[in-house]
Amino acid sequence: MENLKKKAALAAVERIEPDMLVGIGTGSTAEAFIYCLSERVQNGLQITGVPTSKRSEELCRVLSIPLTTLEEVSHLDITVDGTDEVDPCLNLIKGGGGALLREKIVASASRQMIVIADNSKRVEHLGAFPLPVEVIPFGLTSTLRHIEKALQSCGITAELTLRAQAHQPFVTDEGHWIVDAACGRIDDPSGLAARLSSIPGVVEHGLFIDLASCVYLASSEGVEMLTL
Ligand code: 5RP
Repeated sequence: MENLKKKAALAAVERIEPDMLVGIGTGSTAEAFIYCLSERVQNGLQITGVPTSKRSEELCRVLSIPLTTLEEVSHLDITVDGTDEVDPCLNLIKGGGGALLREKIVASASRQMIVIADNSKRVEHLGAFPLPVEVIPFGLTSTLRHIEKALQSCGITAELTLRAQAHQPFVTDEGHWIVDAACGRIDDPSGLAARLSSIPGVVEHGLFIDLASCVYLASSEGVEMLTL
């Protein structure tokens, strides 16, 4: 599996050109990309990165990748990130690593979002991977009820689980909590995305609709490039 992640990362790093502002994703596949990128930086490529999590930022600093922030710049040339699922329309479920909010802000600021993954992330319909929903701790019980209603209006009855770490709620880089919704199958990702976004206690959700421009999927056969 590690080898497949590296193959996808190597394909994506070829897309990075001198002087680009590069959004840098989160997760094990994105970390494979960070190592590939640092090799190119060591060989003289000049780029500036914007990491999507404290974890990725730390790794970039250790590997001496120059960084900036979206407070300093408004647009990025490209973002490279992993995914938990990708469907035939290149819609994604992301947030397995808990960084979906910063990941979506960075991807939305980028001219193109390149997704890298092993072939196990390819699905016909999104939803087998529990959908992460980032919520404000205040009003949690009420927010959960609204999330349930939003799911039901899309024909989904899902078990909701507050993500935990060491018997405490998992806290995101922005200080929020994550609710994982075991949807099973999401027939209308855009409709569900709109409903979830309209809930006051929901900060963001892991449905990435119309954001990915290209997906590199690695399998033992090679790396397949998916575009629309
Ligand atoms: C983090 C993410 C990751 O990109 C996603 O969970 C995939 O991770 P991995 O490459 O480790 O399978 O969305 O929030």
